Amino acid sequence: MNEGILIIGAGGVGRVVVHKAVQNIDTFKKITLASRTLSKCEQLKKEVGGKIDIARVDADSVDEIVSLIKKVKPFMVLNIALPYQDLSIMEACLRTGVHYLDTANYEHPDTAKFEYKLQWAYDEKYKQKGIMGLLGCGFDPGVTNIFCAYAQKHYFDEIHYIDILDCNAGDHGYPFATNFNPEINLREVSAKGRYWENGKWIETEPLEIKQVWNYPEIGPKDSYLMYHEEMESLVKHIKGLKRIRFFMTFGESYLTHMRCLENVGMLRIDEVEVDGCKVIPLHVLKALLPDPASLGPRTIGKTNIGIVAEGLKDGKKRKIYIYNVCDHQEAYKETKAQAVSYTTGVPAMIGAKLMSEGIYKGKGVYNVEQMDPDPFMDELNKQGLPWHIKEL
Ligand SMILES: NC(=O)c1ccc[n+]([C@@H]2O[C@H](COP(=O)([O-])OP(=O)(O)OC[C@H]3O[C@@H](n4cnc5c(N)ncnc54)[C@H](OP(=O)(O)O)[C@@H]3O)[C@@H](O)[C@H]2O)c1
Repeated sequence: MNEGILIIGAGGVGRVVVHKAVQNIDTFKKITLASRTLSKCEQLKKEVGGKIDIARVDADSVDEIVSLIKKVKPFMVLNIALPYQDLSIMEACLRTGVHYLDTANYEHPDTAKFEYKLQWAYDEKYKQKGIMGLLGCGFDPGVTNIFCAYAQKHYFDEIHYIDILDCNAGDHGYPFATNFNPEINLREVSAKGRYWENGKWIETEPLEIKQVWNYPEIGPKDSYLMYHEEMESLVKHIKGLKRIRFFMTFGESYLTHMRCLENVGMLRIDEVEVDGCKVIPLHVLKALLPDPASLGPRTIGKTNIGIVAEGLKDGKKRKIYIYNVCDHQEAYKETKAQAVSYTTGVPAMIGAKLMSEGIYKGKGVYNVEQMDPDPFMDELNKQGLPWHIKEL
């Protein structure tokens, strides 16, 4: 019988998934961690007292993943590598008939553009094979989708407006560093903004629209409108929606560095020749910047991520705010990872737990807001990400 989970990716988020999965070993029974660099898996195995199995895998190769799945025989695979590996891992799950979960939607390494199209295209094939794929099960996407589904289920007849508000008020003491994979982070932040209104996507220049939002337990912060992937599925699944936007906070130092790096071409993802060697500037920058994993011990402060939803209940206007606050140092004490990895890894484990327990089940490819939000909200409170609701 297929049992246990296979986690692919031993980076910042992978480390949290491993720690939290081990805390829930009664559910998972058997945990295997596989990644490109075996030494990172060995380190994690040591940290959790040898309670996991480990393997090396190149997740760009469907054949390698298929052989690993055949050996490990897991109930499901958690893709905690990079968005570039989404399709190869989904394909391997299809060929072997095991369930799939990820936290970020597919992106091609050569094009800084992410969308669900190619992953949603697996829906019919997953249905026929009788397996489930749960997409975007981190914090945003992930918990933000669950917050929207919870608002829709319990607080509204129709939601008209949603703002997703993502604040990281952590301070790592460096003039410039990214708190998760620098390549993925900088591609996302330097891209054009986009929001959805009255059935249409409206494009903005990068970080063109700014508002100040007063984040509970943090205070007022400049928040910039960006495109973020959960909006693509939420516009399909939230009833009556007229507008959805996503805002993220950035400090002045981060933005000044990023603009400067962009102006000199360091964010380019095409090859340039330097002294006869071909290099991709963004890869060079990634090699120079602090490894996000090294930020954990030095990051202080909190994150606050949530949604503000506005709409109608019983014919009356209503506006609510659902959010979670996570403390970087508390997250580090528990998992040796800062809050950005923590807030992503905990929901990924919760999604896997609910699937392993048969509470979330289905045939085909789903976004998390299509699931019942209640068991997920309960688990968030139990697993270290308690949430709050305010009527505004
Ligand atoms: N939804 C959310 O809220 C949210 C928030 C943050 C991040 N994320 C997503 O979470 C994922 C992990 O992020 P992270 O910060 O943990 O990144 P990370 O620290 O860079 O870790 C990525 C891990 O994947 C491994 N990997 C990369 N390519 C691989 C391949 N071809 N085969 C096998 N392993 C491979 C890396 O191996 P090496 O150690 O050899 O490099 C590394 O261990 C990303 O997809 C990111 O977009 C989601």
